[in-house]
Amino acid sequence: MERVMGGGALPLLLTSLGVLLLYRVLVRLRRGASVRGAVVVITGASSGLGKECARVFHAAGARLVLCGRDAARLQEVVQELNASSTDIQQQQTFPPSTVVFDLAKADTVEKAAEEILKCHGHVDVLVNNAGISYRGNILDTHVSVQRDVMETNYFGPIALTQALLPSMVQRRSGHIVVISSVQGKIAIPYRSAYAASKHATQAYFDCLRAEIGHFGIPVTVISPGYIRTNLSVNAVTGDGSKYGVVDKTTASGWDPRDVAGAVLKAVRQKSKDVVLAGPLPTVAIYLRTLWPALFFRLMSSRARKEQKRKDE
Ligand SMILES: NC(=O)c1ccc[n+]([C@@H]2O[C@H](COP(=O)([O-])OP(=O)(O)OC[C@H]3O[C@@H](n4cnc5c(N)ncnc54)[C@H](OP(=O)(O)O)[C@@H]3O)[C@@H](O)[C@H]2O)c1
Repeated sequence: MERVMGGGALPLLLTSLGVLLLYRVLVRLRRGASVRGAVVVITGASSGLGKECARVFHAAGARLVLCGRDAARLQEVVQELNASSTDIQQQQTFPPSTVVFDLAKADTVEKAAEEILKCHGHVDVLVNNAGISYRGNILDTHVSVQRDVMETNYFGPIALTQALLPSMVQRRSGHIVVISSVQGKIAIPYRSAYAASKHATQAYFDCLRAEIGHFGIPVTVISPGYIRTNLSVNAVTGDGSKYGVVDKTTASGWDPRDVAGAVLKAVRQKSKDVVLAGPLPTVAIYLRTLWPALFFRLMSSRARKEQKRKDE
């Protein structure tokens, strides 16, 4: 043993410690590098996850541009953030700007992108967060509802992304983030419009990542499981009316503050694809690819059980 320590073990130990230290310094540098002073645009910042993202990015020193349809609710978020700035002593914070527009109205998105660019002259990080959910049976759902969900969750975010991309490409700098869902990876019954819009989102942003990586612009797709927000309350049903119910799954979902923290981490680390969900959805995602027959059987059984519950 003495011979081993005296021979090669001590230099080996010191080298390992040195490598570990260097690794930790590099990780810390990488973690803190990207958001202080960065121009971060967040859609759907008036509530839920978007509002929590606004809080964490503001506290981290980002220059925010907050987007939504409701000017008054966005102003409330701005006031709250400005008031919280006095509590954040470690670093400088910036008063957020707002841009009000409806993502589902294609003709307004380009003008909104111009307004966003006017705020600070450029965008460092675009967080495509806004979205709407859906609850319904395909047989009873108007195709117009399928289209509307697609407008908000898919065409709106991609139109905004494409309107802001040229300026990022010109600067060879920027970062595109999209909040998708576990339902962008697996489709569960009675969520057709939502799952389809999130699958399309996943596909589009995967293509985008491959196409713009060489400009130094990363693309991050974040797929959370259930989060405790108003998403199910604001969901639309098959006839376009509001669902208006807090589902049990949503009520027992992740704390939006934790998800927002994970979004910030993913931006700092320039992650490509992040699933924020417990073991069951994670296993289901693998099952869909590795054992599709079993996955389909489980989904059919889930659909039957849900229908039975509704009929009772
Ligand atoms: N909650 C969950 O369980 C869960 C799980 C996975 C993924 N997600 C995703 O997380 C994102 C945020 O949802 P959330 O849970 O925070 O729900 P939320 O509380 O209902 O917030 C949705 C946000 O989207 C905005 N929005 C909706 N339609 C819009 C439109 N046509 N144009 C512009 N903004 C619009 C809303 O703003 P205004 O109404 O003020 O315009 C609101 O700020 C969504 O993409 C959702 O799919 C949520």
